[in-house]
Amino acid sequence: MHIQSPKGTRDMLPKDSFLWQWIEQTMREEAALAGYLEIRTPVFEYTELFERGVGDTTDIVQKEMYTFLDKGGRSITLKPEGTAGAVRALIENKLYAEPLPVKMYYLNNPIFRYENPQHGRLREHHQFGMECFGVKGPTADAEVIMTVLKILGRLGLANLSVKINSIGCPVCRPGYHEALRSYLKAHFDALCPQCKERFERNPLRVLDCKETGCQAIAREAPSILDHLCEECDTHFEGLQVLLKERQVPISIDPQIVRGLDYYTKTVFEIIMQSPRGEMALCGGGRYDGLVKEVGGPDMPGVGFGIGTERIILELQNQGITPPSRAATRVFAASLGQDGRLPAYQLCMAMRDAGIPADFDHMDRSLKAQFRYADKLGVELMVIMGGDELARGTCKIKDMRNGEETEVSLADAVSFVKSTIN
Ligand code: HAM
Repeated sequence: MHIQSPKGTRDMLPKDSFLWQWIEQTMREEAALAGYLEIRTPVFEYTELFERGVGDTTDIVQKEMYTFLDKGGRSITLKPEGTAGAVRALIENKLYAEPLPVKMYYLNNPIFRYENPQHGRLREHHQFGMECFGVKGPTADAEVIMTVLKILGRLGLANLSVKINSIGCPVCRPGYHEALRSYLKAHFDALCPQCKERFERNPLRVLDCKETGCQAIAREAPSILDHLCEECDTHFEGLQVLLKERQVPISIDPQIVRGLDYYTKTVFEIIMQSPRGEMALCGGGRYDGLVKEVGGPDMPGVGFGIGTERIILELQNQGITPPSRAATRVFAASLGQDGRLPAYQLCMAMRDAGIPADFDHMDRSLKAQFRYADKLGVELMVIMGGDELARGTCKIKDMRNGEETEVSLADAVSFVKSTIN
């Protein structure tokens, strides 16, 4: 039987690995420049973490989690997002007691959501994310936004719009909830069954509903920005100043509420175009109540997550390829059986010297070795032929200009090294 990969999952193939590594390298470098250190947390956590952290009225918790009982009868969930695990680790390892802020990032964190797979939407995807703990003011919000924009800029991505909003805090949000409920009441019958349920407990979720009918109602809803308390308003203004200072082309979009319950104050998304319209390339925001909610101290936090698969889609959309491939640069070819062992030995010596080199595993003819090496795109062919070997030499052909040089075997590695550099 032909077994396929599970629906909504993708293999990362060797031919694409350089692309992934180029993206990862750029992320690592920019995170390090901003003083963020890597964290890796388990692929699964106790389900309760996400119910409390992400929120039990969200689509993620209600419909999309991969949850199962382990052999000990504990409810386990594959990570549906990266922030809750980072917060759990912060608390469990008392990282909050270290000098503040605590800054961390995760790279290609596998994330699992039981969604309907479509263009740009997978059941397993991989996120890069940054989380900054302990900063109340908007400088941390600006720092994480600037860092992801820098990463996207270095990858060559242009024309992305940055949408920001503030969704208030426990002081001002109840007032907004009331205003929203009185608006939604008039449209109650047209809401989807789930939004009818959410109406009482968390009306903000209606603004994030994926049903077309609810989306139309949400478009006309009162704006949260008219209901912010002074602290939230000042924070939002402060963030705008910091982003404008760096010429970030932001647009304020009161419809952005994000699909997770932990957000307070700032929320933002970086938007890309997809065949079905706009799609979030990156999403994040502030979550000042989350650390406490999960059992830690009262400590603010802000961060974002960005899906690597969506970055790759957008690179393809914009026709961008990585600058160069890490490829085999030299091929040690053998003419006849006598050349096989010397070719193997020279190839190993080149690798020891840090030169990406290969040799023939397939007993090919010299002509076929040339064809294969050509496909690899090598710069030099080292040919171990009978006559040369008898003289203790080999022939080195520069594939870029066709030049051939006979070099003693003892000097071959240093000759190759100086020629390719
Ligand atoms: P999120 O918006 O749910 O936020 O996901 C972040 C990013 O992950 C999205 O912008 C998108 O690039 C990618 N993504 C999400 N779902 C899928 C999917 N089904 N298929 C492919 N890519 C997807 C969070 O997860 C928050 N934890 C972000 C955050 C960190 N907020 C604060 N800190």
